[in-house]
Amino acid sequence: MAGFKTIFLKGKTLYILDQLRLPHEEVYLKARSGKAVYRAIKEMNLRGAPLIGVAAAYGVVVESFRNHNPDHLRRTIELLRSARPTAVNLNWALDRMARIIQGRKDLPSRLLAEARKIEKEDQEACIAMGRYGARLIRDGARILVHCNAGALATTGIGTALGVIYTAKEEGKRFQVFCTETRPYLQGARLTSWELKKNGITPTLICDSAVASLMPQIDLVIVGGDRIATNGDTANKIGTKTIAIVAHIHKVPFIVVAPISSIDPKLRDGGSIPIEYRAPDEITTFRGMRVATEGIEVLNPSFDVTPARYITAIVTERGIARPPFDKTIPKLL
Ligand code: MRU
Repeated sequence: MAGFKTIFLKGKTLYILDQLRLPHEEVYLKARSGKAVYRAIKEMNLRGAPLIGVAAAYGVVVESFRNHNPDHLRRTIELLRSARPTAVNLNWALDRMARIIQGRKDLPSRLLAEARKIEKEDQEACIAMGRYGARLIRDGARILVHCNAGALATTGIGTALGVIYTAKEEGKRFQVFCTETRPYLQGARLTSWELKKNGITPTLICDSAVASLMPQIDLVIVGGDRIATNGDTANKIGTKTIAIVAHIHKVPFIVVAPISSIDPKLRDGGSIPIEYRAPDEITTFRGMRVATEGIEVLNPSFDVTPARYITAIVTERGIARPPFDKTIPKLL
C-alpha cells in the first residue's frame, strides 16, 4: 500500500492529511484540541465513515492532554458527535470513549489506549473485508466505484478500494471506473489519486455517465456510512441512482463496510439522518460562482439505497446476502 497515513498522533498533536488540498498537495494539519478535530471533520479536511470515527476518538485524546476533567471531556464528545450526522462510526467510536470516561481513572492514558485499539481494529477490519470481498472479483472484471471508500477514508487499506487492492495482490486483473462524485469530487480528487498512487490507473467518468456506461460494467463496489439491520444503506449521494441502474442491468452491487457502520438500533433506512451541506459546494467552483445568483439550492450529502438493490454486504465478519434482515443480525 502507498506510503501515506491519513492521521497520526505525535506527542500531543494529531496530524491530519488535509484531503481538501489533495490531489495537488500532501499537507498535514495539526490538531491539538477536540475543537480542532471537530472542525477538521466538519469542514471535511478528513472524511470517510471509518476515518471520522478513529479521528474523533483521537480528538478526545488530544483534548484530555489539555484537560482531563470528565465533565469537560463529555462536552468534547458531544461537540465531536455533532460534527457530521450520517456516518454511525462517529457515534460508535465516541460511545467507546465515553465508556472509558465513566471509569474516571488515568484518563489520558486509558483514552489513548482505547483510541489506538479503535485504530487497530479499523486496520484489521479493512484487511479482512479485503479478503472476503476479493472473492467477488473475477479476473478481467470491469468495476465501477463511487465516492472514496479507500485508504483515505480509513486508517487502513480502505473498504471498497481495500477489496480492489487485495484482488490486485492476488494477481487478478481488472479495470476500475470511478465517478467524479459531485459536488465534493471525492472520486475525481481522492479516489483517482490514491488508486494511481497504488499502481492502478482508473478511468474517471461524470456521475451522469453511469447509466450509459453500465452495460460495460461487471460489478459495482461502494462503501457505506450507516447500514440498517435490513440492509438499507446510506452512502454518498448518487449511490442510490447507481444501485437502481445496476439492478436494471443485472450488475451485482456490493457494499463493503465494517460492522461499526451497521446501526443495530435501525430496522430500516427510513430514519437515517441525512446531512445537508452548504449550497456553495454546488453553486461555486474553486471560489468562483457558477450558478445563477438568487436561486434555492438543496445539497443532500448522502442517500439511502434500499436493500433490494444490494447484492451483498461485505464486512470483516463475512459476507451478508439477502434476506439481510436475517443475515445481518447473525453477523452482529
Ligand atoms: O462525505 P464523505 O466523503 O465523508 O462520504 C464518504 C462516503 O460516502 C464513503 O463512501 C463512505 O464513508 C464509506 S468510506 C469507507
